[in-house]
Amino acid sequence: MQLRGLAITGDPYLSVHDPYSSAQDRATGRRIFELTCARCHGAKARGGLGPALLGRALAHGDSDWALYRTITRGVPGTPMEGGFVSRREAWFVLAYLRGLGAAPATKLGGPSDTVANLAPAHTVSFAELVSSSSGPDEWLMPGGAYDGQRFAHDDQINVSNVSRLAVRWIHQFPSTNAPNESAPIVSGNYLYVTVPPGSVFALDAHSGAQVWQYSRQVPSDIRICCVATNRGAVVLGDRVYVGTLDAHLLALDASTGHLVWDRTVADYRVGYSITSAPLAVHDLVITGIAGAEYPTRGFISAYDAASGTLRWRFNTIPQPGEPGSNTWGGDSWKTGGAVTWGTGAYDPELNLIYWGVSGATPDFDAKARPGDNLYSNCMLALDASTGKLAWYFQFLPGDDHDWDSIQTPALINVSATGTLSDCWQSPIAVDFSMSSIAPTAISCVRRRSRSKPGPSA
Ligand code: HEC
Repeated sequence: MQLRGLAITGDPYLSVHDPYSSAQDRATGRRIFELTCARCHGAKARGGLGPALLGRALAHGDSDWALYRTITRGVPGTPMEGGFVSRREAWFVLAYLRGLGAAPATKLGGPSDTVANLAPAHTVSFAELVSSSSGPDEWLMPGGAYDGQRFAHDDQINVSNVSRLAVRWIHQFPSTNAPNESAPIVSGNYLYVTVPPGSVFALDAHSGAQVWQYSRQVPSDIRICCVATNRGAVVLGDRVYVGTLDAHLLALDASTGHLVWDRTVADYRVGYSITSAPLAVHDLVITGIAGAEYPTRGFISAYDAASGTLRWRFNTIPQPGEPGSNTWGGDSWKTGGAVTWGTGAYDPELNLIYWGVSGATPDFDAKARPGDNLYSNCMLALDASTGKLAWYFQFLPGDDHDWDSIQTPALINVSATGTLSDCWQSPIAVDFSMSSIAPTAISCVRRRSRSKPGPSA
């Protein structure tokens, strides 16, 4: 728990600790000290030509990090030169000095890391999700609220006090190869966060203490093109829902972390995976799918939150005979990608979900899939209860640069006159098109109606 000292004292020096402390380490340190340091600091560091190192507050700091720094770098302009010992030897010597009684002046206190005894998690109703306004006490979904705006409505923090913000606690997760891109969810006293490759942690939101941890063994043969991460979970009822890198959707008990159900969303061996949080709407948990670098066919799927039964699936590539199928040449529709690895937004007023779709596969070879490739690079509006397409807008037909239009839409109401409403009527869905390759312009799509004629049948 290296970082806890920093949270409690605000002193970065207290976040580094001597990795060596056993009796054997101290014996190693004693040999080094007697050979190298004792001629100046005296036997057992009681002082000689150089000062005693025990029984007083040290002038150059007495935390582990400060001592390590003094020993390795020395005190410039004095006989205490740096480089008497190697960096590793410095830690051994420090272990010896600690054994002699050179105690750090500042001791760590503060909250423990052990499991807290929290009351059961609050049951989150759909109505609460609808009225959720992102803060100050809760953050119930990755986007803060269904509108996906990620704006924290919190007037407790303002220009007069923002400079006094300080760390309350730090919880350090096990280190992983993939970056942690998880948006933490705060519901009552619980904070839920996912950690790659397959863990969900519940922490006490007030102390940072761990309440539970769920860890899934992810198969070693998963196919992940880019980042093997997980961008978060979502809450509904008394459960936490999360997708996995091997393309499963899980329901966990929000108070204990116990697995309630586990559904295979797609076959990970083909290249499917789930890397973003699902969206919980009504009694459904709706998830997108990743894997556009592989021969996949994208979709958005809704599962019954209680039982885990598949309720609807919208395929983002129409099959022959369906509207839009003529936008894919040959058999390219079968493996054309157009996946949905982000998280959508939801409009309770219209009962529509809005979900961005990636580019088509193969990424850079449009000739392999002649046509506009619907619904790649689209914003989709689907009926949340049935998955039926209400409208779509294609930002980039037949993309051959892997641009993607996967961004989480942010829904805004525009009533004032201005540049936005000069072009589009309110209300609109705004797509902040921050592609991984290059940011493109902000696109606005009218959210109430189809903004482009639908595909011919
Ligand atoms: C050539 C003599 C000499 C040797 C060898 C030497 N030191 Fe020092 N050391 C000094 C002197 C003199 C000072 C006081 C520097 C000052 O003026 O702050 C000092 C300061 C220190 C301090 C800082 C004390 C404080 O009050 O902050 C530490 C810690 C220390 N030495 C540890 C060691 C260790 C461990 C070794 C062996 C790896 C070592 N020294 C080797 C002469 C020596």
